[in-house]
Amino acid sequence: MFDMNPYLPHEALIIERIQEAPELFTLRLEFTEPEIQHRYKFEPGQFNMLYLYGVGEIAISIVSDPEDGNIIDHTIRVLGRVTRGMNKLKKGDRIGLRGPYGRGWPMQEARQKDVVLITGGLGCAPVVSAINYIQQRRAQFGRLNIVQGVKHSDDFIWKDRYDQWRELPDTKVLLAADVGAELWPWHIGPVTVLFDQLEFDPQNVCVMMCGPEGMIRATCDHMLEKQVLPEQMFLSMERNMQCAIGHCGHCQYGDKFVCKDGPVFSYDKIRDLFAVKGF
Ligand SMILES: Cc1cc2nc3c(=O)[nH]c(=O)nc-3n(C[C@H](O)[C@H](O)[C@H](O)COP(=O)(O)OP(=O)(O)OC[C@H]3O[C@@H](n4cnc5c(N)ncnc54)[C@H](O)[C@@H]3O)c2cc1C
Ligand code: FES
Repeated sequence: MFDMNPYLPHEALIIERIQEAPELFTLRLEFTEPEIQHRYKFEPGQFNMLYLYGVGEIAISIVSDPEDGNIIDHTIRVLGRVTRGMNKLKKGDRIGLRGPYGRGWPMQEARQKDVVLITGGLGCAPVVSAINYIQQRRAQFGRLNIVQGVKHSDDFIWKDRYDQWRELPDTKVLLAADVGAELWPWHIGPVTVLFDQLEFDPQNVCVMMCGPEGMIRATCDHMLEKQVLPEQMFLSMERNMQCAIGHCGHCQYGDKFVCKDGPVFSYDKIRDLFAVKGF
């Protein structure tokens, strides 16, 4: 988007702060310069570099809808130095923003197809952006399957959203926790056990995933067994990032850069690397 210095962040105002869970919050942003806001366009699955003045800059996915006019939502998990600092920000504070970067989800290709969305872990933002997108345009997509796996049932957040997604037409929502508290009404065990309940046409499906690489590997193996082609499966990857424009090499993944060639890859493009544990 920015044709000047690609490393230069632009000032964004926090117009709302939402506490999603004890360690998870959403910042709703808008640029302070109307010209920058007007030119800013993104696609689901892309990310921005957010700069906390005097502390540091981090990659964060965009979860709001591309057609939602002026707002840019980021859901952030408190992890280390920068995210701890961002957690203290409040409405009216300002941060730096540059982006959007990377390749997002293949939303155009997925139109009229069944869609399977699989996430693992806490509030997996990249897949949430795809779910939000489909929700706004439900009639343009086939059957929708949403699968979420968490380590412990206490890690499950956004119950209201899952309840709301369950009410969408032709939509199946399946939840699993490796360890469940007494009143956890859903499945206990790995998400992979739920896969036989998915409803999709293997010849006409788009699978989108994010989460721990072990879970993604298991999902891809299952989908291949069901005759889903590797080019119909997409995953969003995370790597340590600095420049976000393919210059510094911090996010190198084989012959690819996650910031520029990803973060969303089709499985056929990274299948060989993905088979190597810890790469
Ligand atoms: C394309 C992309 C999109 C992302 N989208 C989101 C998002 O929407 N919401 C969100 O909360 N986070 C997202 N992240 C992760 C986010 O960038 C990191 O959590 C953040 O950089 C941590 O910064 P920090 O200074 O708070 O922690 P640090 O002090 O840098 O790190 C604390 C600890 O976490 C580890 N760590 C740091 N970054 C990562 C990472 N990416 N994956 C695994 N471990 C890591 C470090 O090795 C260290 O052990 C995304 C990352 C990428 C690459
Ligand atoms: S972050 Fe610099 S090359 Fe990707």
